[in-house]
Amino acid sequence: MSRGSPTDLLPDQSRLDNLTLARKEGWQRFVEAPARTQPEPLTLAQLRALGTEARADYDKRRRIWHANLGPLKTPQLAELHEDLWDIVDSNAQDGDKAKGAIAIDATPGLGKTTAVLGFAKQFHQREVAADGTKTSEGHQRWPVCRVGLTGNTGMREFNRAMLDFYAHPGTTRGTSAEFAHRALDCVLSCETKLLVVDDLHFLRWSRASGVEVSNHFKYIANEFPVTLLFVGVGLAQRGLFSEGSTYADAVLAQTGRRTTRLGMRPFSVSTEQGRSEWRSVLLSIEQRIALCDKHQGMLAEDLSDHLFARSTGNIGSLMTLVNRACQRAVRIGVEKLTEDLLNSVKIDAAAETARPELDTAIAARKITTKPKRKSG
Ligand SMILES: Nc1ncnc2c1ncn2[C@@H]1O[C@H](COP(=O)(O)OP(=O)(O)OP(=O)(O)O)[C@@H](O)[C@H]1O
Ligand SMILES: [Mg+2]
Repeated sequence: MSRGSPTDLLPDQSRLDNLTLARKEGWQRFVEAPARTQPEPLTLAQLRALGTEARADYDKRRRIWHANLGPLKTPQLAELHEDLWDIVDSNAQDGDKAKGAIAIDATPGLGKTTAVLGFAKQFHQREVAADGTKTSEGHQRWPVCRVGLTGNTGMREFNRAMLDFYAHPGTTRGTSAEFAHRALDCVLSCETKLLVVDDLHFLRWSRASGVEVSNHFKYIANEFPVTLLFVGVGLAQRGLFSEGSTYADAVLAQTGRRTTRLGMRPFSVSTEQGRSEWRSVLLSIEQRIALCDKHQGMLAEDLSDHLFARSTGNIGSLMTLVNRACQRAVRIGVEKLTEDLLNSVKIDAAAETARPELDTAIAARKITTKPKRKSG
């Protein structure tokens, strides 16, 4: 087989579906995982000629492949990465200066987590390549610590989650401050430079505890030699950046002042540039689709309007729709994507709600999703 035999790739890859990024071992596997190999393209005739076992194997590889199409280098992701490199690299000043924090604040499903993990992975690889896997004192080097928050986390659990990442034994007893001190030890000995806090909106964030949260992050920014990278939904509304007149507002403003806010936008077809971005993302998905009867322009020409109306330009909804449709196309044997097939596939409620209005506008030719000048 020309593209690498599935059997020598699967053991490593299949461990990835059982992966938790809440611990450093999981993080390491994520960082070191080789890129997946696309199943070799077959014609319909070649597909039909496969024996039962070879067919089962080919379909299995396609199932896994279609479920993991990505990450694509969308313009949104590329822009975000550029901004992140600027800020993280400008934070390389000495440890006694508080470092600027970053908050990525955008509505769900726009690919914040995907983009941030991709960035953190590259950052990890770059640091390890430059300085080695061990620190000067002989500890493991962990350039990135990632903390994912769950519902209603308080500061103590937040500190504990940091310790958990490093598999620190002291997570059962202690006050919030003790946990924080232990976390600082880990950060220092592992020479961690980037602290990613995903789903920050899960943090308990009442008016009073908002001050506590803000103070805690200020403490981290001052004492920990790391760049804080927050990811969340509606962070501005929660007062992360607020500047008001009360004491609480003034304390919160301290966080706001040192935090750079970055957003992520959905695809939009209201400008020519937006339409060509939409077209190029569809073209790159098209290339990755492993269906035997696909043709050039299947997505970018024939299904462009439909896909936009269904996903409202939201990458999460788009990828879910394409993934599910490909699974169905393999299962029922049609081996290509058509409007009928896509119509039979269900996706998230938010996208379905927005759909009728867009469908009508496209049908009435009020909007189009296709650029005038076409490349590729
Ligand atoms: N660049 C990309 N290429 C391919 N797929 C992507 C890309 N970005 C996001 N996706 C897909 O979109 C879905 C949503 O992405 P992600 O979880 O990163 O969004 P999010 O903004 O973090 O959402 P939430 O606010 O709900 O946490 C995922 O299934 C992911 O696979
Ligand atoms: Mg997310």
